[in-house]
Amino acid sequence: MSTRLLYVCEGGDCTEHGSGDIYHKIKECIEAEDPTQERVKVRRFPCFGGCEEAINVTVFPDRLFYSHVTETDVPEIVDHLLHDGNPVERLCGHVKPDVEEIVWDMLDSPY
Ligand code: FES
Repeated sequence: MSTRLLYVCEGGDCTEHGSGDIYHKIKECIEAEDPTQERVKVRRFPCFGGCEEAINVTVFPDRLFYSHVTETDVPEIVDHLLHDGNPVERLCGHVKPDVEEIVWDMLDSPY
């Protein structure tokens, strides 16, 4: 199984809404079961361009663009990644498709 990448936005709007706490909470939950982040790597991202839908979190290569993420969503997000749970559909589809496409193009390209 390939490693997934989960990015938590650290741009201004997402940070104001508390994305720093979301990042730490997700990282803590992932590392509790996957200490070396072999299955899921948790990273920060400068800004996804969907600032008005803060807090934004993306999962790659699944191409899940989660918006309006709060701490209460974290267990479901983690459950999907580590226990084959379902993607959290209610958090998807809030940003415009072209915003998503730009992000997937960026994450697709090697850097
Ligand atoms: S500040 Fe998070 S998407 Fe821009």
